[in-house]
Amino acid sequence: MPTAPRDPHRPVAHLRPPGNWINDPNGLVFHDGHYHVSYQYNPHGADHANMHWGHFRSPDLLSWEPLPIALSPTPGGVDADGCFSGNAVSDGDRMVAFYSAHRQERPQHQPVTCATSHDGGRTFRPRGELLVPEPPEGCTMFRDPYVWRHGDGWRMLVGAAFADGRGAALLYHSPDLETWTYQGPFDAREPEPVGSTGLHTGEGWECPQYLPAAHGPGALILSAWNDDDSPRCVAALLGAENGDVFEAGPPVLVDHGPDCYAPALLRAPGDRWLLWGWSGEARDEAWAVADGWAGLLTLPREISVDGGGSLRQQPASELLTLRGERTVHAAGRTHTDPVGLGNVGRSFDLTARLEPTSNAGLRLLTTPDGSEYLDIRIDADAGELVVDRDHASLDPRARGGSYRMPCPLDGPLDLRVIVDHSIAEVFLTTTGQVLTLRFYPTGEGPWRLEARGGPDAHFGYEVDAWRLHPLVIKESASGAAPSDPLP
Ligand code: FRU
Repeated sequence: MPTAPRDPHRPVAHLRPPGNWINDPNGLVFHDGHYHVSYQYNPHGADHANMHWGHFRSPDLLSWEPLPIALSPTPGGVDADGCFSGNAVSDGDRMVAFYSAHRQERPQHQPVTCATSHDGGRTFRPRGELLVPEPPEGCTMFRDPYVWRHGDGWRMLVGAAFADGRGAALLYHSPDLETWTYQGPFDAREPEPVGSTGLHTGEGWECPQYLPAAHGPGALILSAWNDDDSPRCVAALLGAENGDVFEAGPPVLVDHGPDCYAPALLRAPGDRWLLWGWSGEARDEAWAVADGWAGLLTLPREISVDGGGSLRQQPASELLTLRGERTVHAAGRTHTDPVGLGNVGRSFDLTARLEPTSNAGLRLLTTPDGSEYLDIRIDADAGELVVDRDHASLDPRARGGSYRMPCPLDGPLDLRVIVDHSIAEVFLTTTGQVLTLRFYPTGEGPWRLEARGGPDAHFGYEVDAWRLHPLVIKESASGAAPSDPLP
């Protein structure tokens, strides 16, 4: 039988199971010599329903082993309608996953429960009862626990919205992971503008994550939730603990693109912090359903707060190993004429050093006639780097839009761009900022890169691009494909 052609939009270097819907990364923990990455997963379709936790593990962030589904709703149980988001901790030989127990009759109230594994995450025994059954007085939304070790005990944040209009991360304490006591809001605020982006911190905070202050400020990361469909964003509050309260400055964006939400942290050996986000589809739902899959996890990113108090992200250093043949190696200067830099495949890793010239930038052309392209250009008047997908798909079912991140203009700009079929992650290495978006080129290869000068001045560029090898997805030791529900 002829094999079906490969889906051109399915990524190769980003984690996701072979089929069906995924959303948030969950249960991120280093345990037993492995990075464990679970994710919100519907084993029965490409829509958001029947939430389980799918599960991968890896010793090195490059080769991944699908493990059996970690968490499944228990019929008639506290989580009968879904095992929503949460994290996991490593405690001796056990791994404990904390999650939000969903039942349809309480749609915005997912109390906390947990499940424990003693076999490296192959099987989890759900507690069956709630750990934190009731939200505090005045909560209109409550979900998404994040637990971490604190001194001799443990702390937990839970995302919430208050009836008075504040979003919040609520703090709990436990001596033993069993008994939890509410300490009050770690931070809570009314929707607050995030810079001049037009976005705000939301009516409620989903998936709070905490990167504790070590030698400088710490970061409280929140996914801004609104009951209506207004745009979501991920913001970080940078500050320091004062007892049970986090004192922080104004919010900053964690990702400047439209397609990264509900990111989660993993504390890796060597005090390295990694972050994965959920990159949802930016195309008609019916298209994703017809293709049988929706959503993927971003690349793992190293995340830190630098000495100057800025949040910085870069792809995990291990990902350099995925670089294959270098297909572009170009440097030059141009005025108004576009310059061809070479061909790239559908997944590539690119570095560029660009002179900060207005309206100059790089274009990825994905059809031979050049009518379909993704643009990255400098807007010197605004002091921003623009990533524009308005022409990135000839298919009208793909979303357009252009997105911006601040960029300094007092020196060359260093970029790292990782493109993998239908996702582009644009890192402005100079500042440590990142912008993630999905795009759906229709053109068959080869794809081409161009440098494009601005009308006013010569534009200098140096660009290198390498093929990006796929992640190695191992056979599961247990024989379970990641899309197999447990019997
Ligand atoms: C964020 C979120 C979480 C929730 C989960 C359900 O994307 O809404 O708040 O636990 O997804 O899938």
